[in-house]
Amino acid sequence: PAMRLDAVTILPEYFEPLRLSLIGRAVESGLLELHVHDLREYTHDRHRTVDDTPYGGGAGMVMKPEPWGEALDALLADLGSREDRPVLVVPTPSGRPFTQAEAADLASHPSMAFACGRYEGIDRRVLDWAGGLFDVRELSLGDYVLNGGEVAALAMIEAVVRLVPGVIGNPDSLVEESYSDADDPLLEYPVYTKPASWRGLEVPPVLLSGDHGRVGAWRAERSLEITRARRPDLLGRPAAE
Ligand code: ADE
Repeated sequence: PAMRLDAVTILPEYFEPLRLSLIGRAVESGLLELHVHDLREYTHDRHRTVDDTPYGGGAGMVMKPEPWGEALDALLADLGSREDRPVLVVPTPSGRPFTQAEAADLASHPSMAFACGRYEGIDRRVLDWAGGLFDVRELSLGDYVLNGGEVAALAMIEAVVRLVPGVIGNPDSLVEESYSDADDPLLEYPVYTKPASWRGLEVPPVLLSGDHGRVGAWRAERSLEITRARRPDLLGRPAAE
């Protein structure tokens, strides 16, 4: 059965890249079902207003609850009985970290919906209300701030969807990569292809040796070295500031 993806956004065009390449092909072939919803379709005023000033004061605008309520009502009706409490991902810098483990969990669900807000946020009551009907997951891509949830949603969608069986041509390429094994969280070793000599730079000779044991050992060493230098936190050491 196809995995269903929904996104609610004021910028539907941001999701057009999902029609390209590997994911595009999965959508074409029916492996993925993609539904992008314009939040403004759920407004009723002439200006199609989706935001307002924050109670309590402060800079920026907050997304109004009413259009979100109607959009999520419609989404629930549309999802029908696929799942008891469908997953609703809310990308936000104040979410818990999005990880490979989270991606793998999301890939095991029949549907996944994204509520994309601007970073000042959606009126809190929307997510409190939605929590009764959806499995709401507020997730952050990392410790930096984007202008809205759309780009974060794209990244999360790509990370999840490539784990769905059939989306990636060669499933072997999924097993060796960084973060894929929670017990062995090392960064990837460097890779090389032909020619063996390029601009005076040589491919490490061990890779030309045909000795799979030595190749494996060399790659494990490089992985450890790179992880130590770039992500000591993955090895249980404090991260360099
Ligand atoms: N929206 C704005 N910034 C974000 C981030 N870092 N992660 C997820 N969603 C966001």
